[in-house]
Amino acid sequence: MNFSALSFPDAPLIKAPPPGPKSKAYLDYQSSHEGAAVSYPKGIPMAIRRAKGATVEDVDGNLYIDFFGGAGVMNVGHSNPEVIEAASKQLVELTHSLDIPNPARKKLVETLLSLLPEPLNKLFFGGPTGSDAVEVAVKLAKHNTRRIPMIAFEGAYHGMSAGALSLSSRLGFKEDFLPLVPEVHFVPYAYCYRCAFRKEPDTCDLDCAQYLEHILDDPHSGVGKPAAVIVEAIQGEGGSIVPPDGFFPLIREACDKHDVLMIVDEIQAGLCRTGKMFAFEHTGVIPDIVTLSKGLGGAGFPIACTAYKEKLDTWPQGKHIGTFRGNAIAYAGGNAALNFMVENNLAEHSLSLGNSMLSWLIEIERESTIVGEARGKGLMLGIELVKEKDSKEPAPELANRVRAFCHRHGLMIELGGHYSNVARFLPPLVLTEELAVKGIEIFEDAIKNAEKSL
Ligand SMILES: Cc1ncc(COP(=O)(O)O)c(C=O)c1O
Repeated sequence: MNFSALSFPDAPLIKAPPPGPKSKAYLDYQSSHEGAAVSYPKGIPMAIRRAKGATVEDVDGNLYIDFFGGAGVMNVGHSNPEVIEAASKQLVELTHSLDIPNPARKKLVETLLSLLPEPLNKLFFGGPTGSDAVEVAVKLAKHNTRRIPMIAFEGAYHGMSAGALSLSSRLGFKEDFLPLVPEVHFVPYAYCYRCAFRKEPDTCDLDCAQYLEHILDDPHSGVGKPAAVIVEAIQGEGGSIVPPDGFFPLIREACDKHDVLMIVDEIQAGLCRTGKMFAFEHTGVIPDIVTLSKGLGGAGFPIACTAYKEKLDTWPQGKHIGTFRGNAIAYAGGNAALNFMVENNLAEHSLSLGNSMLSWLIEIERESTIVGEARGKGLMLGIELVKEKDSKEPAPELANRVRAFCHRHGLMIELGGHYSNVARFLPPLVLTEELAVKGIEIFEDAIKNAEKSL
């Protein structure tokens, strides 16, 4: 399919410098009437009228290239016609059914099971957010092992509900609410740019993964035998961090040796974003439990799913429930989205376009004094900004400046990273090469502009 027809042809187009007067009125209304914890509009100040493919139009008529993708939700593009058609048909048939079976639900289950590797042959739909899929995964692990401790990784983000937040590493999210769920222990992820063991990738022995094995092995590690290790195949909010080959097999090995379950959180990296249907397929290991959400609803319809091995299906009726575990529109839209991904080889497109974008970003890294590292896989890219390359001192204020510049020039991007200093690209995977080029040109100008501010 020619993806160009899916997006607005004229993006980027700035008619009224953002936030334009109409956006500003919406933003003012929002800040007067909605809670102060509202966050995205503070970094991406706009009100959105509509969106198509990999482009977004604000209420002032400005058109943006979307490298943000609704925080990695819009894998098949905004208003994907096939998703909208399936969801519209479903809308007049049935919309809500809790977990009572219906044709839309059955089709989605069939499609998902045909895509997941065979051992992951049980699915569970809980509440409609990724956080709830994580809660399901953890409860299932605890129920099966009758153990409470959990191991998560530095840089992890698994959600905002108390259990999922306990497994997320960013302290700012947790302070004021502690203690959360007890007995969660964090170990270093393979964040080679800032290696916890001060090693370089080509000379290290994957000390981070070895450290996990050490913790599980040593009776004096202070860490009780965990129910599970939860890990992102590629870390998202942590800063688009791709672990080296070998990291996951060592984690799998340590889990197997110590009879600990392995949960892979695919909520952000899954569903073709990184060049495979599931990001764990890059790693050569099969997890025991996998969480999915974000792109699964096709057009942003809320849905989450936990997939697991049949032998873990030991829990009784009603052990995890919720009112909104049966959104038939999300099932129909999600099924259409998965079919779209397969029929259009979206994983392949994401990988090849992501590779060319990354090569260009690496050139920018070479020339720039503030790009510490450009990295990522497929269309999950990160550019880590630093005050200067030698010290690697994080530069969150430059990241904010870069995002603001991009926004003013018609490009939406995300920020993340341990120090909030990573510019992140999570575009709809139907991004075209033409839009990618225009987007990176704006980004490159934003970097040059930020350099000048130093
Ligand atoms: C890897 C990962 N897990 C879990 C979540 C939480 O999903 P939700 O925001 O839908 O609760 C996110 C959200 O960004 C995520 O990136």
